[in-house]
Amino acid sequence: MQPDTLLAQAGNHSDPRTGALSAPIYQSATFSHPALGESTGYDYSRTSNPTRAALESTLAALDGGNRACAFSSGMAALDAVFRLIQDGPRKRVIITEDPYGGTVRLVEKFFRPAGLEPVYVDTSSIKAVEAALLQGNVAMILVEIPSNPLLRVADIRSLASLAHRSGALLAVDNTFLTPYLFRPFDHGADLIVYSATKYLSGHNDVVAGAVICRTEEWGARLAYMQNAVGAVLGPFDCWLLLRGLKTLGIRLERQQDNALGIARFLASHPQVCHVRYPGLADDPGHALLKRQAKGFGAMISFETDDPERIPDILKKVRVFSFAESLGGVESLITYPLVQTHADIPGDVRERLGINERLLRLSVGIEHVDDLIADLKHAMT
Ligand SMILES: Cc1ncc(COP(=O)(O)O)c(C=O)c1O
Repeated sequence: MQPDTLLAQAGNHSDPRTGALSAPIYQSATFSHPALGESTGYDYSRTSNPTRAALESTLAALDGGNRACAFSSGMAALDAVFRLIQDGPRKRVIITEDPYGGTVRLVEKFFRPAGLEPVYVDTSSIKAVEAALLQGNVAMILVEIPSNPLLRVADIRSLASLAHRSGALLAVDNTFLTPYLFRPFDHGADLIVYSATKYLSGHNDVVAGAVICRTEEWGARLAYMQNAVGAVLGPFDCWLLLRGLKTLGIRLERQQDNALGIARFLASHPQVCHVRYPGLADDPGHALLKRQAKGFGAMISFETDDPERIPDILKKVRVFSFAESLGGVESLITYPLVQTHADIPGDVRERLGINERLLRLSVGIEHVDDLIADLKHAMT
């Protein structure tokens, strides 16, 4: 089935007993047993819940994976991914060098002390990844595509074959593109992780995460851990996510049309020095992303010529909201230095270009003319 059809019918037919079209919200912590040794298939909602099962099977189908697990946030989903490899014999993890700041905080504060060794690499450079793999002992490569906030594009097929040749897993944080635009398993990835708070839910009204496994073996390990650790997504949030998914395709189509219009506007603006949007033909990641994905997404970052302008821009926007998140129908403007990437060490931020001039836009579904007028006004 085409993704548009899977999305439009997300969660439908999950309750054949009543024929409910919208997946019912099973707001129950526990389920009674017909008799000793018998179960309806549901015992306790941390282990499994019918609303969550409807969501998880939809997510697995969308990515073409064997199994999906829904978590209470994207961070809980990332935590699960690191736990999967934590006790294995290999201890090094290669991570995109400009990931979401929370990923760095999680790894540095919790998994480094527990024995994992993160190695931050420009995953858009195959040579850099090859060099890091040569040092051996690598359990996993974790890639964000595009990276956040610099929007650099990695070649997932090449990374998958490099990882597999050295006996490592490839995990992809596909939060920015979603399975509507990019399906990492089709390119050889082993695990996919999402902050479902973003595009998958799409309405800035739920915090959620998901991990999708390509194989049954990893799926079983993940489900065991989801139940053991317990950071599951509640039934109502699962339903919100199912409802959001139904419009993912049409939202993203509109969002990326808007993003291209805004990126072109910014590229011609005299106060803007460096626009990063892979949808622009001259962006370094354009050709590679075009080859791998169905679209370029709707995240843009850009630098102003003068950092003194930033407070003014953030104060003057009226259609964009100055807020920390992305992927919803409403457009947001974020200052990565003090918000999403505050947990990345200062020298690393400076080297990468996550500096005091950088702003990030999450483009929504509003009318593009209003969005451009808003930025124009904010930058005068
Ligand atoms: C790429 C990416 N991954 C993971 C996360 C963490 O997700 P959450 O905020 O849902 O915990 C974020 C949050 O912004 C993100 O941008």
